[in-house]
Parts: sequence; structure tokens; C-alpha cells
Amino acid sequence: MTTEVPQPLAEQLRVHRQDHVLRWWGELKSAERDALARQLAEIDLDQLDRAWQQITGQDEREESPAERARRAAAPRQLVRVAHSDADRREWSEARAAGGGLLRAGRVGAVLVAGGEGSRLGFPHPKGQFPIGPVSAKPLFQLFAEQLRARARAAGARIPWYVMTSDSTHDETVDFFRQHAAFGMDPRDVHFFRQGAMPAVDRQTGRLLMASRHELVLNPDGHGGFLAALDRSGLLDQMCDAGIDYVYYHQVDNPLARVCDPAFLGFHLRMGSEVSTKVVAKLSPEERMGVAVELDGRTQIIEYSDLPHDMAAERDAAGELKFWAGSTAIHVFSRSFLERLRAARIELPFHRAIKAVPHIDDAGALVEPKAENAIKFERFIFDVLPLAERSLVVEARRDDEFCPLKNKSGDFSAEHVKRSLSELYAGWLRSAGATIPEQATVEISPLYAFDPD
Ligand code: UTP
Repeated sequence: MTTEVPQPLAEQLRVHRQDHVLRWWGELKSAERDALARQLAEIDLDQLDRAWQQITGQDEREESPAERARRAAAPRQLVRVAHSDADRREWSEARAAGGGLLRAGRVGAVLVAGGEGSRLGFPHPKGQFPIGPVSAKPLFQLFAEQLRARARAAGARIPWYVMTSDSTHDETVDFFRQHAAFGMDPRDVHFFRQGAMPAVDRQTGRLLMASRHELVLNPDGHGGFLAALDRSGLLDQMCDAGIDYVYYHQVDNPLARVCDPAFLGFHLRMGSEVSTKVVAKLSPEERMGVAVELDGRTQIIEYSDLPHDMAAERDAAGELKFWAGSTAIHVFSRSFLERLRAARIELPFHRAIKAVPHIDDAGALVEPKAENAIKFERFIFDVLPLAERSLVVEARRDDEFCPLKNKSGDFSAEHVKRSLSELYAGWLRSAGATIPEQATVEISPLYAFDPD
């Protein structure tokens, strides 16, 4: 077995000034060399260069994110929660239209579950977290049961496309296997794996090594969904199966109304290409992206890019002007996803500056105290301004949004379980039941997936 570095690989790394990653090649065992070569084959060094340029080479004449935000207005293509009888009629018509799509088997659901969940610190994929307030059912199960219930009510199949990453794939697939796909027909559950991006040194852009034969890699962000769906062949499969609308949700929000007919119906009736659910922000400081109108398109501005005075601005009625907090729940028309593919659209990279352990040039482990590395991620909401027609639909926060993010405090397991319990208790009360304030309540989606 030769210990020579394969020449094309060495040359490519040299051109991109990343050949330090081969420093230990001659000392590696054969399996380690294969592992490193495999990782290197999977990363696109041209793309990495472009991402580095994009985030470091920002031209001073370019508009900064904060300047851009200054030109934003509140979203206009908007459906708010129902207040009047006329609103309620509209919602009910939308619900009927969405129900029609479900009955015709034209809807699929995408769950993005590739994140590393670092803030929560749970040592498994987040979807395995036991969140049912009484049953301790994992997040995956609550979604699967909602889908089963919707499919049963519609008398049609609803395929579920679950995006994993290198960090979550094997465990997630095993977990579904161990639990017999939570009662879903396994033919309706499709896993697809998102791409990875290497982490680089913040100062130099050099690839960081986790060990002598491993790069530091991380999932390429939920925006990796677009490319991954295509690469996996599932976009074509959706087309063959007549799936025209895709409900997209995140693994951390068990209040998401999976394949909500009203949301689907508004999307259909407005001829939208991409629709987004929002909830009213609780305060100007709440760390949520907001949906706005900018350059004639719906866009999401990250909370860190919205200047504080704008975040705090209120209208005459005292409502925040930039109130529309993004829940990261979307509906996409499949034709829109196909249009993006045909146009070879690449979403931009955002950077996250993190403290990332790695080995140094002598092979010694470095555990940095300060943030030393850049990770690159794509965000799915960057597709919004690419849509010719888009729509923002408001939901009540207590009904639909409480994501599991943190170990303690807001959006901790305790907070999310309480929100679920209060939601279910509210359903029972609206049906005339008396529920004590302190009671912990859970309703299986298989019994009821909405108050009706
Ligand atoms: P977050 O942005 O909250 O990230 O993901 P996270 O990885 O879950 O948690 P932290 O930031 O490390 O604490 C929002 C949703 O997007 C998915 C997550 O699984 C979650 O459903 N996601 C995120 C991916 O599928 N891939 C990614 O690369 C990033």
C-alpha cells in the first residue's frame, strides 16, 4: 500500500492553500488515510473560497445589513389571525382549500432535523428528546402521530421527508427503526442527509483539523435543505408522486401544526410560491428574525441585523412595527423549488464565529477560550426574496410556537412542556371540561390534532 498522497488531491489542496491538512499523511494508517480522503472529496474547495470571500471581502461601498434593514417596511402580503366574522369566513375557506389539497394527496412534509442542538446539550439528535408533558413521547413521535392523524382524516398518504446530517443521521434512522417509524408506513418516511461545511480558522481561513486524519466539519445549515433534497433524488420523486406542496417544519417546535390545512389553503389561494408563518414578537429584544417587506419582496431580517431603535418602533396603536417574528414554518410550492434548481441558485453563506477545539500544527489539541473559528451555514429563509409571490400568515404563539432550544429558562424543556400542557388544557376547556390550573395535560395527536 502506497503512502504517497494522491496527486490530484495534493495539487487541488495546494492551489487552495489548504495542503497543511496532509501534513501527517505519511504517518496515517490506511483506514485513516481513506477517511481523510473521503472527507476531502466531499468538500468543495471552490465553494469554500467563495464563502470565505463572501464573508470577509465585503466591499465597503456595499450596504451593511443594518443599512439594508433601514429600508424595510412591515410585511404587506399578509393574513392576520381572525378577529372579525369576515376574517373567520376567510380562514374557514382557506382551511377547506387546504383540506382539498390533503385529500388529493398533493402535500408532503419536510422536517429539518440535522442541527447539532448545541444549546440544549442533549447527547442525541434533538428529535429524540422526550417532550410529551405526560407521556414523555419524543418530538419525532409527536410529529409522526400528527401526520398519521392528518393522513387518516384526509384519506390520503402524506409522505414525510426527514433531513438529517452527518451528526444526526445514523442515530435518527436507528431510532425510527427501533420504534417502527412510530406507526407510519415506512414507505412514507424518506430520510435525506444535508451537506457538511468545514470550519476554518477565523484569521487565516485555513481548514481546522479535529485530529490528524479528520477535518472539523459541521452541517451546512437548514438552508442546505434545497441542495440536499435535489441531490437525494427526492425532489424528482415528489414530482413523480404528484406532491405539489411542501409543508416545512423544524424538529424543535412540537406545537407546529403539521400540514395545517388553513396555512396550505392560504398559500394555494394567493398563488404564493413560498409562505411563512409568523407570531407576534413578545418584546423588541426577543431574539427572533422578523418578516418584512424589502425591495418589493418578503424577506426575513435576522434579529442581530435589526437596529435596536427599529426593533422598538411602535405604530399609533402601540403595536411593534416589526412585529412578525418568524417561526421557521413554511409552505413551498414544488414548482418554486424546481425553478430554483433550474436557475442553479446557491443560497449565501452566513458565518457563525465559535470557539472550536482543533489540533495545532504540531498535532496538539487546542481548546480555545476565545472564539477562534468560522462555521458556515445557509439559512432557508434566504429563499424568500427569490419568490415572485410570497405570503406571511400569522398564528397565535400559544397555539403554534414554542421551540425547544435551551437547557434552562426560556425555550427549555420545562417551558415547552408547560406550553404543550396549557395548549391541550385550553382545548379541553373550550370543549366544556373543567381543568385545574396546575394540571399537566396531554392529548395524543391520534385522538385530536386540533381543538375542533
Ligand atoms: P437551530 O438554528 O436552532 O440550530 O436549528 P440547532 O442545531 O437545532 O441548535 P443550536 O443552535 O446548535 O443550539 C433550527 C432547526 O434547523 C435544523 C435543526 O435541526 C432545527 O430543526 N437545522 C439546523 C438543520 O436541519 N441543519 C442545520 O445545519 C442547522
